Amino acid sequence: MSKLIGPFKEIITLANTSEKGPLDDAKLEIVKNGGVLVDGEKILKTGSFESLSKEIEQIDEVEGVHVLMPGLVDCHTHLVWGGTRARDYTLRMSGESYEKILEQGGGIFDSVAKTRAAEKDELLSGLVRRANRHLHDGVTTIEVKSGYGLDVENELKILEVVKEGKSKVEADLIPTCLAAHVCPKEYSDKKEFLTYLEKELLPKLMVKGLTNRIDIFVEPSAFPVEIAKDYMTAAKNLGFDLTIHADQFHTGGSQIAVELGARSADHLEASTDKEVELLAESDTVAVALPGASIGLGMQFTPARKLLDAGASLAISTDWNPGSGPMGDLLVQAAILGIYEKLSSAEIFSGITFRAAKALGLNDRGRIAAGMKADMIAFPVDDYREILYNQGKIKPDMIWKNGKQI
Ligand code: NIG
Ligand code: FE
Repeated sequence: MSKLIGPFKEIITLANTSEKGPLDDAKLEIVKNGGVLVDGEKILKTGSFESLSKEIEQIDEVEGVHVLMPGLVDCHTHLVWGGTRARDYTLRMSGESYEKILEQGGGIFDSVAKTRAAEKDELLSGLVRRANRHLHDGVTTIEVKSGYGLDVENELKILEVVKEGKSKVEADLIPTCLAAHVCPKEYSDKKEFLTYLEKELLPKLMVKGLTNRIDIFVEPSAFPVEIAKDYMTAAKNLGFDLTIHADQFHTGGSQIAVELGARSADHLEASTDKEVELLAESDTVAVALPGASIGLGMQFTPARKLLDAGASLAISTDWNPGSGPMGDLLVQAAILGIYEKLSSAEIFSGITFRAAKALGLNDRGRIAAGMKADMIAFPVDDYREILYNQGKIKPDMIWKNGKQI
């Protein structure tokens, strides 16, 4: 049964906004004094509230003044972990490097030990708590990576937690296997570890319906380019979608991402003009993770350059216990925007349909006919207030699949 939701002072539809390249705010698609006609889980159309209200009886009247936009998509998180990394963060504040802490057995290894030791219930309640916080901040689709297990048993445990989480959280959870996060202490040979994952873990993921997405951390301190490429090629041949932690400290990862047709290359803080060009010419989404730059006190992804070169740019939190503990998408997108000189249209696109593209999803992230009715409304009278308030004004109305939460 269809219903009309509104009125909204402004609806930022992003309905026909381009998937790639720079975007001018003069072309931001805005419906003034609009309404959205929703049928079940889907959007039928948008238009003037007044004229739509003459076509339909069922009206969900919105009180007060609001700006509506598509539900946010966070295309890169690590939401399942045990323990805390407050100790690492404190060390980093006093000057210790992320890579040095990892080399000494802390960092990701610390979260691996704590996650392996944690019971499933404990991991599940952490995931549900974080995902619900995200949902209430307007994030209606959340990618979730494994990667603190590093063996078949524990990686499956984490991905099963994500599967269980799907029935407990109203946001969509999109799982990704990042078993190739770093090489665990049990293996002295990185290649041997990746062969073990390829033979013993990847086939089980398909059979158990746990995920169709594979990620790897490409870095000399994690997995160097050549052996990472063999593993990702094998994953691709098994039918998985690919995404890569690329160019965080050293280049190399984005090149494999482009060569293998990965959905996305994420991080890119160290990308040079060469990588920017490669990504711009490809169909791989470049994902900026300002939360990791803030968490590590390092430079931002060259978002402006990527957009100007013609790339598709998504913005995501990288919410994780180590490099990205904050996990606030809107705050981080606003901060990236002011440092990298992004337009509102570029930022809104980066946290909606361009982020959905990074997940291979083309059914959300725009307020347009046929799209999922995932929408959020802010208590403001002008869309510019949203980023001006640097993410501190949150949506006070959220619809997931047409249902108000
Ligand atoms: O995306 N860079 C590698 N992995 C994660 C961090 C994980 C951690 O520090 O626990 C990232 O930043
Ligand atoms: Fe990450």
